[in-house]
Amino acid sequence: MSSKPFDLVVFGDTCVDLILKDADVAPQFGQVEKLVADYDLEMGGSCCIFAAQAAKLGLKVALVGYVGDDAFGRLITDTLSAAGVDTRYIVVDSSLRTGVTAHLVQGDDRAMLTHPGSLSAVTIDDVTDDLLLSARHLHYGSLYLQTGLLPHWIDILGRAKALGLTTSLDTNWDPNQVWDHGLAQALPLIDVLLPNEQEAIHLSGQADAGAAFAHLRRRVPLLVVKRDLAGALAWQGDGSFVQAVLPAVEGGDGIGAGDSFDAGFLAGWLSGLPVPTCLSIACECGRAVAGAVGGTAAQLRLSQIVDLQPV
Ligand SMILES: Nc1ncnc2c1ncn2[C@@H]1O[C@H](COP(=O)(O)OP(=O)(O)OP(=O)(O)O)[C@@H](O)[C@H]1O
Ligand SMILES: [Mg+2]
Repeated sequence: MSSKPFDLVVFGDTCVDLILKDADVAPQFGQVEKLVADYDLEMGGSCCIFAAQAAKLGLKVALVGYVGDDAFGRLITDTLSAAGVDTRYIVVDSSLRTGVTAHLVQGDDRAMLTHPGSLSAVTIDDVTDDLLLSARHLHYGSLYLQTGLLPHWIDILGRAKALGLTTSLDTNWDPNQVWDHGLAQALPLIDVLLPNEQEAIHLSGQADAGAAFAHLRRRVPLLVVKRDLAGALAWQGDGSFVQAVLPAVEGGDGIGAGDSFDAGFLAGWLSGLPVPTCLSIACECGRAVAGAVGGTAAQLRLSQIVDLQPV
């Protein structure tokens, strides 16, 4: 057992997802009003969804972030609290508007419109040594969207390591397609790297997935690659591991599967479980969320994961 108050700390890309669904959701300008068949309004944000899943799996999680003094901000703090996340480091800032993404979903495809607002409001000033020392592990997510932190991300990882934390990184997609931001300097500071397959290719600068995996596995102690319906792969030293998944139930929107996967993997890893078991827990968590609407409603609880029960 750790004497620290938190198992992990994460910086929050606070936003809500407004998900509008129909066979045809293409907007028509010229003031045309179109009706849509259904909608959902959910907490979004990769790191927020991650934090909720980690807390539901029994980890003590602190999320550092900002929300506006508005209904969307309250939706986020209420959802995180209900999941068991410690929200003491979330600041309500009336000068900010809580971030929002409108997802226009038709069939298997979607288009997104995002107003970042509070999503990118965390800065280096929020990342104190006291905060880092309060946790065993730092999970760094949404690297490119958290623009307030991006100039300092290597410094933050370096400080976390120097203060004795373990670290993980899920960059997620880079909307500006830059991808680098000093990655070569950061990789030695990362214990667990959690890209999806396309992200691995971009991060490594290699031409294909095989070359990307070969490149990255030599640079981090543990590489875990998410592959959607094809499950996941991992490499640790000379060991390589494969995990297949059964297809998720129909009707899901895929939002949050990767983030819940990350939380499942780290729940196993921080408990000292072997990599194949961590991969299996991760895929269970990802699959459950992939088959549902929004990122958090279908997240699994600790009691549902056999491998996480005390022996
Ligand atoms: N349709 C599906 N059926 C079963 N499992 C799935 C499905 N989609 C995702 N998963 C599970 O969730 C994991 C993570 O999903 P995915 O590969 O889409 O991550 P990602 O691209 O990082 O997602 P995100 O868009 O949330 O960032 C997969 O490795 C798999 O285990
Ligand atoms: Mg992802």
